[in-house]
Amino acid sequence: MAADGPRVAVRVPAKVNLFLAVRGARPDGFHELVTVFQTISVYDELRVGLVGLPGRGHHPASRRRMRLELRAGEGREPSGQDMPVGEDNLALRAGQMLGEAAGVLERAGDSRRDAAGREPPRTVLDVTKAIPVAGGMAGGSADAAAALVGLNELWGCELPRERLRELAGQLGSDVPFLVVGGTALATGRGTAMAQVLCRGVFHWVVWTESEPLPTPEVYRAWDRHCRPSEVEPDAILQALRSEDAVALGAALHNDLEPAAFALRPGLAQRKQRLLDVGALGAVLSGSGPTMLALAADRAHAQSLVAALGDEMRAPIVARSPVGGPDVLRL
Ligand code: C5P
Repeated sequence: MAADGPRVAVRVPAKVNLFLAVRGARPDGFHELVTVFQTISVYDELRVGLVGLPGRGHHPASRRRMRLELRAGEGREPSGQDMPVGEDNLALRAGQMLGEAAGVLERAGDSRRDAAGREPPRTVLDVTKAIPVAGGMAGGSADAAAALVGLNELWGCELPRERLRELAGQLGSDVPFLVVGGTALATGRGTAMAQVLCRGVFHWVVWTESEPLPTPEVYRAWDRHCRPSEVEPDAILQALRSEDAVALGAALHNDLEPAAFALRPGLAQRKQRLLDVGALGAVLSGSGPTMLALAADRAHAQSLVAALGDEMRAPIVARSPVGGPDVLRL
């Protein structure tokens, strides 16, 4: 990165939904959920840095004309999909929103030169991706959470995590969880949440697919094919408390599966294949198309990968839970 001022790096994990129940459609166009989120050890890295600041000791108000700029890093993109790099990029939108909320940026599109005709200073965001793009693991949301946390540090905004979570909810349903990480039970759109107890570590095989499955399409398919469900997360919460991978495998649940399977029938076969080769459980990750298989331990996860061989494109072995975004001042 060509930053000539302070820099911050944030390593941010992906999320999985161990349990996802859809209670029904809401008047605001979203769906009412009960879900258990957990962070998993697949990480994107966001670097943010300041370029062209008007010298040390400048007044913070000089940042009011800051511009934001995004670069895509050298990341592996296992899904084969490109991250959006335009104004609809969620990390960029997160930066703009934080900058406006904290008073360090003027409104979007307002990047006048100063009285001397100088370009305004820039904040550069650089994302290196390992989380599959549009895969149901909240890669875009993770980058947005990383931008909120990293720019809060870089700009010295000092907004508390609680305020960052409020801003996060305006960016997407998964973003508030990823600002905090760990294991959480969420309701509403998925943004109202409480941390829940999880003992031990769980091991997974993550089976990604190159063709994305857009989340709104999956919810629309749910509207066509499915009815609101009453299923409760008690068995999942008990398995997490008691460090019981077998019980967790049996309790994995996602009400979006019938909708995703209707759109992409191959996904149901994938789930079955993972169970056939001995996974403790298998479940669609969020709205898919990534499929997750739970293993007894890391060696078991590797044996599942070996058993499926070339059937799986770019399998990932990962563990959960991990924490939230990790911030490092460079
Ligand atoms: O909040 P997010 O941007 O992740 O949501 C993407 C889309 O997924 C929404 O526009 C909506 O169509 C659908 N969605 C939903 N109910 C939720 C979360 C997402 O219908 N609780």
